[in-house]
Amino acid sequence: MDLRALGSTGIRVSPLGLGTVKFGRNQQVKYPQAFDLPDDAQVRELLALAADLGLNLLDTAPAYGTSMQRLGRLLSGQRERWVIVSKVGEFFDNGASRFDFGYNTTVRTVEDSLRTLETDYLDAVLIHSDGDDLRILQQEPVLEALQDLKQRGLIRAHGLSGKTREGGMLALAQSDIVMLTCYPGYTDEVPVMEEALRQGKGVLVKKGLQSGHVNGPDGVREALRFIFGQPGVHSLIVGTISPAHLRENVAMLEEVLANLPE
Ligand SMILES: NC(=O)c1ccc[n+]([C@@H]2O[C@H](COP(=O)([O-])OP(=O)(O)OC[C@H]3O[C@@H](n4cnc5c(N)ncnc54)[C@H](OP(=O)(O)O)[C@@H]3O)[C@@H](O)[C@H]2O)c1
Repeated sequence: MDLRALGSTGIRVSPLGLGTVKFGRNQQVKYPQAFDLPDDAQVRELLALAADLGLNLLDTAPAYGTSMQRLGRLLSGQRERWVIVSKVGEFFDNGASRFDFGYNTTVRTVEDSLRTLETDYLDAVLIHSDGDDLRILQQEPVLEALQDLKQRGLIRAHGLSGKTREGGMLALAQSDIVMLTCYPGYTDEVPVMEEALRQGKGVLVKKGLQSGHVNGPDGVREALRFIFGQPGVHSLIVGTISPAHLRENVAMLEEVLANLPE
């Protein structure tokens, strides 16, 4: 897959990224079917397949159960091959989410993530919003902490994984990247993509296949056409633990990108 510039971050990403929730967490998730976590051999195989198919972008978070620990172990020696996006603010303990957007917590989370991933930098760190995007951006010191981490060279870019149009807009003014939801039937955050394009900011799309509530291969194709028909999208993060789905998504996306109107 041809890599593309993620806004003006200097980071280049594949148009499809791999979401890794299902590598490490199968409780309190919104997927249509219950599933067992994949074993190490399956995750290793999926990562190798993703690399072979030209993906270079992995999305993880402390709130994704053991996802980050597993990536740290299984990517050992391959750090430079991947762009790694992680998050701060949400934690998942004893089967429930808790949120903390404090300065010290943010710094400690990033430092812990670096140790866990056995690396000395993260490509991007996003605020893992609880839905109250504006309050977090306006009243919490999390962005300030991320800016300081950037200055220390521990992260290359920062931004918001948000849930509202207003939050996305404010995040564009204050950071490098937004991660937002977009699929046919949910277009509330499309204006954020348009604005990001104007400002040269990075746009990552999440939940494009409606967390699996998508209608077969035709639904996947329709979603890909819709999402990449929007302005300003750099990469769609799809969460999968199925090699067949990963192959299908890459093949369909290549077809969709080849046939986009000018
Ligand atoms: N920051 C946030 O607040 C936030 C929230 C949610 C998600 N995310 C990130 O965004 C990523 C994507 O979100 P998501 O996982 O909720 O939703 P998603 O990517 O829309 O959907 C993932 C679901 O779709 C299924 N799927 C994948 N390819 C398919 C295909 N070709 N045909 C049919 N089903 C297919 C997967 O099942 P199989 O495993 O069987 O393929 C999985 O259950 C996450 O993994 C995570 O990295 C971030």
